[in-house]
Amino acid sequence: MSVIKQPSRRAFLRGSAAVAAGAAGPVAAADSARRPDPLITELQDWTSYTGAGVDETPYGLPIPFESDVIRRNVEWLTASPIASVNFTPLHALDGTITPQGCAFERHHSGAIMLRKEDYRLMINGLVDRPLVFTYEDIERFPRENHVYFCECAANTGMEWAGAQLNGVQFTHGMIHNMEYTGVPLRLLLREAGARTDDNLWLYAEGADASSNGRSIPMAKAVDDCLVAFKANGEALRMEHGYPVRLVVPGWEGNMWVKWLRRIEIVDTAVESREETSKYTDVYEDGIARKWTWVMDAKSVITSPSPQRPVRHGPGPMVISGLAWSGHGRIARVDVSGDGGITWQTARLGKQGDTKALTRFYLDTVWDGAPMLLQARAIDETGYVQPAKDRLREKRGKNAVYHNNCIQTWYLNSDGLAENVEVS
Ligand code: MTE
Ligand code: CO
Repeated sequence: MSVIKQPSRRAFLRGSAAVAAGAAGPVAAADSARRPDPLITELQDWTSYTGAGVDETPYGLPIPFESDVIRRNVEWLTASPIASVNFTPLHALDGTITPQGCAFERHHSGAIMLRKEDYRLMINGLVDRPLVFTYEDIERFPRENHVYFCECAANTGMEWAGAQLNGVQFTHGMIHNMEYTGVPLRLLLREAGARTDDNLWLYAEGADASSNGRSIPMAKAVDDCLVAFKANGEALRMEHGYPVRLVVPGWEGNMWVKWLRRIEIVDTAVESREETSKYTDVYEDGIARKWTWVMDAKSVITSPSPQRPVRHGPGPMVISGLAWSGHGRIARVDVSGDGGITWQTARLGKQGDTKALTRFYLDTVWDGAPMLLQARAIDETGYVQPAKDRLREKRGKNAVYHNNCIQTWYLNSDGLAENVEVS
């Protein structure tokens, strides 16, 4: 088993020499490093004709060479694509922002097409003035921009039983991270003269057939929830709740009600289907853990990973991944190459935002030996992401949701990675 080493200065010099020699492949492919490259020394085809005109792509799409960077579903997971999920291709992305076009979708009764003109949001219940807002009404309130992750409580759920799905897209891809533009929910509640005492709740529901109703404690509602209408600068996509969705930062994705239709102020939780028989963890003794809203700190290596094998030989290698916490900022991420025996602190791509994905990198030198790759996140509260066995000890074997355990990839000497468990 290989322990992770820091790259030496010499290794970097070797790497840059490879670039200077024009290697087509990754920097450290020592055998091919000094081969003259016809793609740089001969006339290149694409210099002999003109390219696409600006009128050809009024709305840009990824270049066809990137056509495998797409959401994928796992057919046997659900009975119908209407009540199903597809997964974000985490292995193929970098940075932290998820483009809407490849951000996972999770619907209980399909994605609906709702025109802005037909959109209405009702606020009723314990309020002075029950109100109905149009889309244009919402746009007239002061708005804010925030980047947040949205993680389905079922993310990594298949992995409780053992290492199941061979790819980070499938094990961890029920998450996306976008910059939302929206109106703080508290402003709309104030407009309706809602009572906002701490012991009150609101019940939020969507306009789709499932309605996906959820009870949210008032303290959270007036803290940082957003009534959002833009993501990454543009209108929400249909599948993410166009024209308006609720953003509930750091809390399980199911509470992020799409096509938000109604908010009722109530004095007790409704205990709807989505918060009782679903999205609830049942312990070994059959007792259910009531209300698990916050998504605990979690991380995963996105590269190398089963869908992202190492294509170069021994030498400089970038290990990269994502970390997040529903409790706030990521303070530190550690990476192990020996299944959690030794750890090294990774470098953060940039200081993490609160309740948002944080990118980490470990710039290392691979000696070509197999590795058991793991990452563990530590958030600003000091919470440390647990090993799988530890989590199982606490939650038992009936668990489905809220699996934030440490993930292991076995990297073999050919550079191929596989989903495994260590204990
Ligand atoms: N809201 C409505 N109205 N209908 C739904 O089916 N699915 C929920 C939530 N909000 C859902 C909904 C679930 S389980 C999750 S994880 C998130 O939306 C997923 O959001 P996304 O499809 O934008 O990824
Ligand atoms: Co969900």
